[in-house]
Amino acid sequence: MYLHGTSRINSRGHLEIGGCDAVQLAADFGTPLYVYDEQLIRDNCRAYVEAFQQSGFAFQVAYASKAFCTMAMCKLVEEEGLSLDVVSGGELYTALKAGYPASRIHFHGNNKSPEELEMALDAGIGCFVADNFYELELLNHLAKERGKTAAILLRITPGVEAHTHEYISTGQQDSKFGFDLLSGQALQAIRNSLQAEALELLGVHCHIGSQIFETDGFVAAVGHIADFLLEVTQATGFTAKVVNLGGGYGIRYVEGDTPRRPEEYVKAITEAVRREFGSRNIPFPELWIEPGRSIVGESGTTLYTVGSVKEIPGVRKYVAVDGGMTDNLRPALYQAKYEAALANRMNEQSGELVSIAGKCCESGDMLIWDVALPPVRPGDILAVPCTGAYGYAMANNYNRIVRPAVVFVKDGSAELIVKRETLDDLIRLDRIPNRIQLQR
Ligand code: LLP
Repeated sequence: MYLHGTSRINSRGHLEIGGCDAVQLAADFGTPLYVYDEQLIRDNCRAYVEAFQQSGFAFQVAYASKAFCTMAMCKLVEEEGLSLDVVSGGELYTALKAGYPASRIHFHGNNKSPEELEMALDAGIGCFVADNFYELELLNHLAKERGKTAAILLRITPGVEAHTHEYISTGQQDSKFGFDLLSGQALQAIRNSLQAEALELLGVHCHIGSQIFETDGFVAAVGHIADFLLEVTQATGFTAKVVNLGGGYGIRYVEGDTPRRPEEYVKAITEAVRREFGSRNIPFPELWIEPGRSIVGESGTTLYTVGSVKEIPGVRKYVAVDGGMTDNLRPALYQAKYEAALANRMNEQSGELVSIAGKCCESGDMLIWDVALPPVRPGDILAVPCTGAYGYAMANNYNRIVRPAVVFVKDGSAELIVKRETLDDLIRLDRIPNRIQLQR
């Protein structure tokens, strides 16, 4: 198993994260447990910020909180000087309740409800990333009602779709998000925004994909945006103050994953903007980005306790843990791959290939199909690294399994940032109507 950040093997042969013995963490907080390496989150934030500082561009790095959103995380991001991207009233509420400054919040989403828009306007958030014509009208109306002006970016689909290793130019993009370039909708949205009295158009936004290793997709997107903004200036006289290039920067889940470092993505983007905007004589905009996974993904490790071990001779050995698709939906949903190790026996030779099963009533609830581990026994502590992004964020109560606790570890101290759910939490919102009570 690859050791990220402050993870190491301590003198007892145990996994240690943030100076804390993982076996002790499991004993103290129970399992499953999400353990976050706080220093690594901070280092990742700083890597993006420092790279932009060196570039000379005005910038904002907005953490995409969908990857992992809790009140403590919002505060940490604030401390590191990052802005915050939210995509729902729930994420917005979490940030505001944590005391995160509203003026640094960007609100995304393809179907923000009137209530969500009102909440964001009343809080005075920094920017709305407007996604469609319906939202432009609704937001203009709600802002006008309040005597306010809403700052907006328009989300456009630049005709670039990037995946881990390659990107494709899709031309007219079939996506539920944003204004399409080729059909002319994006230009129409610019005109509508400029005419709307309660909207202040700052610029444009695009997001080309997720878990991207190469930089060429971002570079291509910058070219498409520069073409579009030139057309916009010629047609309307508008000059964009802000260009937001979204998130999607990759991380290393397993051997063979080859993400770039934050500074390489930032360098590729800023150089492309210098080149593409410069050659068209478009003034340099402020650059915003929205990394989510690459801020928290490698920082999170899930600890499980091994329970039943079932061997089908000549076929497979199933090692079942006390969590599964309830705390990590990604393998079941995306066939996502993970590594693992026994946190209590890190130095033992890996002897056999086993499969890690979750405890849900669902055959597809497999966390890892093939992983080499020392002979596994019930009671062992299994560590699965790289679960920090879209793990807790997508956790659920299937089979009425409680969601795990979350701890931040740093310099030998572990702080609970989300308590483990209790059985009472599971029934807290349940009601039994009178008519289905037993009639006496
Ligand atoms: N900005 C926008 C507009 C986005 O849609 C996303 C992710 C991000 C930023 C952050 O992207 P990141 O840097 O985290 O790749 N549940 C999936 C990932 C869905 C990503 C959706 N949008 C997963 O577990 O892989």
